[in-house]
Amino acid sequence: MMAVSRGSVRHSLGEDLSTFATSLFRPGQSVTRATPAEKSQLVESVKRRFGVSEAIPFPYARTCVHAVLEAMDLPPGSEVLMTPISIGPMLEVVLSLGLRPVFVDIELDTFGPDREDLARKLERRPAAFLLTYLFGYVPPVEEIINACQAAGTRVIEDVSHNIGATYAGRCLGTWGDAGVHSASLLKYVDGYNGAFVITNQSALGQRVAAAAERLTEPARGRVRGCIRRTLIWNTALNRYVFNLATFPALACLKAVSPALFEKILGPGIALTLDAKALPAYYFEDIASIQVRTILRHLDRLDSVLESRRECARTAHRAWREVTASSSPSPEFPAEPAGQDPTYWQFVIPVRNTAVARDVLFRKRVETGTTNLLDLAQVQGIQLPNTRALKETRIFVPLHGHLQSGDYRRMFVALREAGQI
Ligand SMILES: Cc1ncc(COP(=O)(O)O)c(C=O)c1O
Repeated sequence: MMAVSRGSVRHSLGEDLSTFATSLFRPGQSVTRATPAEKSQLVESVKRRFGVSEAIPFPYARTCVHAVLEAMDLPPGSEVLMTPISIGPMLEVVLSLGLRPVFVDIELDTFGPDREDLARKLERRPAAFLLTYLFGYVPPVEEIINACQAAGTRVIEDVSHNIGATYAGRCLGTWGDAGVHSASLLKYVDGYNGAFVITNQSALGQRVAAAAERLTEPARGRVRGCIRRTLIWNTALNRYVFNLATFPALACLKAVSPALFEKILGPGIALTLDAKALPAYYFEDIASIQVRTILRHLDRLDSVLESRRECARTAHRAWREVTASSSPSPEFPAEPAGQDPTYWQFVIPVRNTAVARDVLFRKRVETGTTNLLDLAQVQGIQLPNTRALKETRIFVPLHGHLQSGDYRRMFVALREAGQI
């Protein structure tokens, strides 16, 4: 079997090469601040896609959350509920605004908030809830939003993992007060970074837009760095390069220096809680090339999701075949009526993620559990399901070139090792 990578960049190599060349030779039209015309094209496209009245481009999702929380004008010390699996900067942003993060555990089927824990924490009527949808799965959004509304808690939805997913036919990101999307590396809509806020509340939208007006000129080197990093990842994860070079190099590294192997494949975005202020680059405007790339990939989103769901169906069938005789049959995230997941990741339960990961690596499949931080743990709080996610849920790589037999081989290997 050809070696299999855990994911892939959703750009062609040609696209990244040409963007990289443009960033070097025509910086004035690529790595500088997006023009008003480019931004309004993006705004219109996002509004159409989500059916919302306001869309505001930003450089990062963390900046979006900062702008929305600031626009909500919450009293200092207000409680902000958060699901704990996210990037470190989300916690930095909440703390930097003088707000108090309170973590809500997740459930292990849809990876949304644990509804009992949420109900308990809503009793204190927190000011806001940063609800991060994980891995392209869809929790019972309506029930969650209703509970928050009853408590007077405003909701910000982070749809970075499942842009395009719906619940009861309505796009995620449009259920709460505002939605944010990050167009960072590996996302379905990847713009060499860049992000946007969506909302149907015009007053909130205007305040968020005012924050966007204050963003400064982007540093060309930083934007170029985002493009270079994407090109490197895209090359390393290319199916053929991965088989011939990346996987063998990782295998050598794993044998020689397991610590470095884990570091390279570990979290990509650091958490810095001791800094006096948020880094200035969080507040640099979105660049032209980022806007143009997001626009291009928004146009392709539906076909990308369609092929992704087809891959997930193939993997799902293989899973059912391999686990049919297991007793009791392993739990599997259900898809209750109305949910429309996008399978940004295909998550399966295993006995132990470290062992399962090793079993798959020996079969030339490089994967793992989520690299996102458990922000509750960072703050010294143990949430049982969040911990169980890290210890017992692993991503099965989905790729268009994998056949049913490839998925079966992965699942059989896990079954024979007593992992499923
Ligand atoms: C849930 C979630 N939100 C946001 C981001 C990225 O946000 P930003 O655009 O601030 O880098 C990620 C990155 O992987 C993520 O997993």
